[in-house]
Amino acid sequence: PSDSLPHVSSEETLQALNQASDQLLRGYPVAFPTETVYGLGALALDEAASAQIFATKGRPADNPLIVHVSSFEMLRSLLPPDYTLPRAYQALTKHFWPGPLTLLFPCLPSIIPSIITANQKTVAIRMPSHPVARALIALSNAPLAAPSANSSGKPSPTRAEHVFRDLQGKISIVLDGGPCGVGLESTVVDGLHEDGCIRVLRPGGVTVEDIEQVLREEMPDVVPPPRVLVHRRDYRDEVIEQAPTTPGMKYRHYSPSVPVILLNLDAPPSSDVKTLDFEEFLSSLRRFGHHNVVKVGLLAPEDSPIWNYSPPYDHTQWQRYSMGVSTDPSVAAHRLFDGLLSLEHAGTHVIVIQAFSEEREGLAIMNRVRKAASESQWVTLS
Ligand code: TXA
Ligand code: MG
Repeated sequence: PSDSLPHVSSEETLQALNQASDQLLRGYPVAFPTETVYGLGALALDEAASAQIFATKGRPADNPLIVHVSSFEMLRSLLPPDYTLPRAYQALTKHFWPGPLTLLFPCLPSIIPSIITANQKTVAIRMPSHPVARALIALSNAPLAAPSANSSGKPSPTRAEHVFRDLQGKISIVLDGGPCGVGLESTVVDGLHEDGCIRVLRPGGVTVEDIEQVLREEMPDVVPPPRVLVHRRDYRDEVIEQAPTTPGMKYRHYSPSVPVILLNLDAPPSSDVKTLDFEEFLSSLRRFGHHNVVKVGLLAPEDSPIWNYSPPYDHTQWQRYSMGVSTDPSVAAHRLFDGLLSLEHAGTHVIVIQAFSEEREGLAIMNRVRKAASESQWVTLS
């Protein structure tokens, strides 16, 4: 039940949580696990504490933060006194809270510091399901602002060691809760518009398909059910479905320090797109190499036709990172950031990611991959 303190199993865990909570209450940021990605938390209602998040990450001031709560009571303390949740929010919170869903709410400037909202009229709030996150918020008895615990522009961390490698020296506590289950950030949803449409501002851990299904099931008297608007791009990164996005989505993002190539193995839908055969593609990778060797990191599903390909070229050395199988994008979602960060850490010169179809978690995966990639290539295998 979301209104009670989560069960903490060991003395050691409790001690670590108390230490982290003390640090937070003294106004310092702390990194902690959530089910989506690791967060860099600070007291949301303390302007100076939240300012340290921006400084630590090098985050632009116009990119607002998500406020994390551990109970509906804490949620209510952040909202206008007689605010009632819209029906769509009742349905969505019933199914997806606690969990990887962030909702926009009307913002009371007397409660929420403007640094959190970057002067938007709304505040983004989510109730994470990770027991460590829930316990930390509940122990501190305070809502926590928490962006992903990475330097701005880098892939989000899904393991404590990712946070440590990136932010060591800048923060004093990283709570280690093991690898994050979801692996991509929460879905950010705006259901506050009079037209009744549900706007997905950032695709994420909760899929658009699941949101549509819950709205259909929970609002059977609303015919047709509320429309879910999503911003979609096509194979050329051009907008095909127009919908608002978060302020954060305008930034280049999720990029490791090595170049990333998005590899499309499906035939391009238009003949004006240049297509390479695999040999041409391999030799095009030469430009990334050092001393005539190019170390290529490959992120692809194991049923991909290139997974077992051993190229007859001595200028490429391949390091593979499995994205599971192409029929289960939830596994790829779970592995994407770890794959990018591991291949970067392994010293690859270029990372090649095979494109996913934009269904279910594939939509959020491709949203992140397009931002990470500096180029797209179409390749035909003979
Ligand atoms: O899963 C997650 O959401 C993780 C974990 C730590 O909870 N947090 C996270 O935070 O991804 P961050 O700061 O990396 O991304 C927050 C996104 C940004 O794109 C930001 O622009 C958007 O949420 N956002 C925050 N407040 C908003 C608001 N009031 N209106 C529209 N977008 C907002
Ligand atoms: Mg982030």
